[in-house]
Amino acid sequence: MSFPATRLRRLRDSPALRALIRETTLTPDKFVLPLFVTHGEGVNEPIAAMPGQSRLSVDTLVKEAAAAKKLGVGGVILFGIPESKDERGSEAYADDGIVPRAIRALKAEVKDLVVMGDVCLCEYTSHGHCGVVEDDYVQNDATLELLADAALAMARAGADVVAPSDMMDGRVRAIRTALEGAGLARIAILSYAVKYASAYYGPFRQAAGSTPAFGDRRAYQMDPGNGREAMREVALDVEEGADMIMVKPALPCLDVLARVREAYDLPLAAYQVSGEYSQIKAAAERGWIDGERVMMESLTAIRRAGADFILTYFATEAARVLGG
Ligand code: PBG
Ligand code: ZN
Repeated sequence: MSFPATRLRRLRDSPALRALIRETTLTPDKFVLPLFVTHGEGVNEPIAAMPGQSRLSVDTLVKEAAAAKKLGVGGVILFGIPESKDERGSEAYADDGIVPRAIRALKAEVKDLVVMGDVCLCEYTSHGHCGVVEDDYVQNDATLELLADAALAMARAGADVVAPSDMMDGRVRAIRTALEGAGLARIAILSYAVKYASAYYGPFRQAAGSTPAFGDRRAYQMDPGNGREAMREVALDVEEGADMIMVKPALPCLDVLARVREAYDLPLAAYQVSGEYSQIKAAAERGWIDGERVMMESLTAIRRAGADFILTYFATEAARVLGG
């Protein structure tokens, strides 16, 4: 039926009507807050390129996480800043590494918060790559064992979910096999299945000091021009034992997100990455956009495209807006 019988404006007439027919809504329990954990005590070191975000020591991180939880935020994902970096990223898989320590503290002090650990080597390697470098090449198979060890260290510390972000082939199987072998079968894997080599990670690399010392990540992360290949990445990770899958970055990849949603029934996450966050913050600081509204609109768009939950630096702020 067409105009005038059909007038779509009828249902936009009042806030109550709009709320009644709204297809996509936000709730804080669908947000996962990324946190950077560093050595020391009482540390709260603002990250210049990410206004409102800081590197936190374990004690201050526990407070941040508790505050987020109080507002209804569903979970946190941890990134570690090691004491020192080396060729093979040793602290990534040390049982007393900074992330396992933070996990133990969170599990002891904050109830009912999903605790995830990001599994990668780039924050821990002196060269900043996500894997072992030999012959100027990021070696796939030699990296798998170290990733599995990192996942095990987090799992032993009590993580609910391990989330490999390295983009090595076969890492999900390696991690799933290691967890099963260690009697840690209950730990879930959230795979960064579709992770593009994106310029939107810039602020994160400043935060973690993980910019590659040579070259870039295009030989392992995906080419932003590829959509069909994303489906192959997801298929492999599902077959290897991923419990949940992720698309990253979020807003630049809504088409991919929608495509994966159509094809898969696994829980699907999207990562609104550092650059997405910082560009909203920067424009808002200049008064060029309404930061709060753009924040909420971007999160709504990501959910509308098909994400079940969202990793976002806005988690706490958006939860506050939602009145959680
Ligand atoms: C580590 C990792 C990165 C991000 C998540 N895990 C950085 C990268 O791949 O360079 C990016 C997150 C963000 O930009 O917020 N592999
Ligand atoms: Zn990495």
